[in-house]
Amino acid sequence: MTSLEKHLDERDLARSLRADVREGLSATPRRLPPKWFYDARGSRLFEDITRLPEYYPTRTERAILTEHAPEIARLTEAKTLVELGSGSSEKTRLLLDAMLGRGTLGSFVPLDVSESALVEAVDALGLAYPGLSITGVVGDMTRHLRHLPDGDNRVVAFLGGTIGNLVPAERAAFLGELRAALHPGEWLLLGADLVKDPGTLVPAYDDAAGVTAEFNRNVLHVINRELRADFDPLAFEHVAVWDPEREWIEMRLRSVRAQAVRINDLDLDLEFAEGEEIRTEISAKFRRAGLAAELAASGFALRHWWSDPRDWFSLTLAQADPI
Ligand code: SAH
Ligand code: TRP
Repeated sequence: MTSLEKHLDERDLARSLRADVREGLSATPRRLPPKWFYDARGSRLFEDITRLPEYYPTRTERAILTEHAPEIARLTEAKTLVELGSGSSEKTRLLLDAMLGRGTLGSFVPLDVSESALVEAVDALGLAYPGLSITGVVGDMTRHLRHLPDGDNRVVAFLGGTIGNLVPAERAAFLGELRAALHPGEWLLLGADLVKDPGTLVPAYDDAAGVTAEFNRNVLHVINRELRADFDPLAFEHVAVWDPEREWIEMRLRSVRAQAVRINDLDLDLEFAEGEEIRTEISAKFRRAGLAAELAASGFALRHWWSDPRDWFSLTLAQADPI
């Protein structure tokens, strides 16, 4: 049984894209929020990223899930599995298999801002898990957590290291809202990428084949199409830098020459200097103590911490504290 709930329609999306682009591209330095990468093409490019030799997070997290999914199913006795930023929900099948195997699970609720990725995932999962109730939610996890279906004993999975795409203040707000949406004792299963050698980190965000560069530039294609702009995407080069103080990778688009861009729907004309950059995404990397402190500050108790043998990626099981 599958169904789809929409908390974002074309008009909401258009409105927030316009606001984000106007604000972000008029700011100094210029920035664009990351959720606009993920139209149908962007979601496909992200799936290509997950298969790159340099992009270790997906396969590392999958290995951890493979090893610990049965234990997660046993510890949580999940009746409902919610997944935020679910994308293809491909790794999530390991959790579904384990939770169905224990006989506790009745429903799966993937939520994503990308309707195309969500519909594809829900259709595929519906075929693979005919007995499971699957409700896809098209929504923004920073705005629509209150609309998650109520349930008892829910587990909220937030995988892929996507938590690192929020800056610390956004992370705190997000975790606080998530805590408020849960009952005491319900669970958060969080995948977070860990601090490691920049020689490993940087290539994961700047691959030799140029897939990440194309993904980063996709946001310009989205703005061209949705807001009738005339960005020349190839006149912006992909930049990924490791910030050792803040312990995050920062993705930017750098104008290769002085150029003017017009965004018709905003009646906005922009001048880019040669070398001028737009910040498009951060991907923060974590340490155990820091993550535990952030979770505690938001009302979650860390119950289990799993990692891979190289300590490259972490999977944390946390439980909502009584209020
Ligand atoms: N969980 C998958 C996909 C990670 S990519 C994995 O681990 O491989 C990040 C996903 O989060 C994309 O599918 C993107 O569409 C979604 N996303 C990004 N910002 C979002 C937001 N604000 N609300 C909901 N989904 C979001
Ligand atoms: N959540 C992913 C990550 O931080 C998203 C991602 C991977 C990404 N590669 C990217 C975002 C390149 C922007 C650009 O690893």
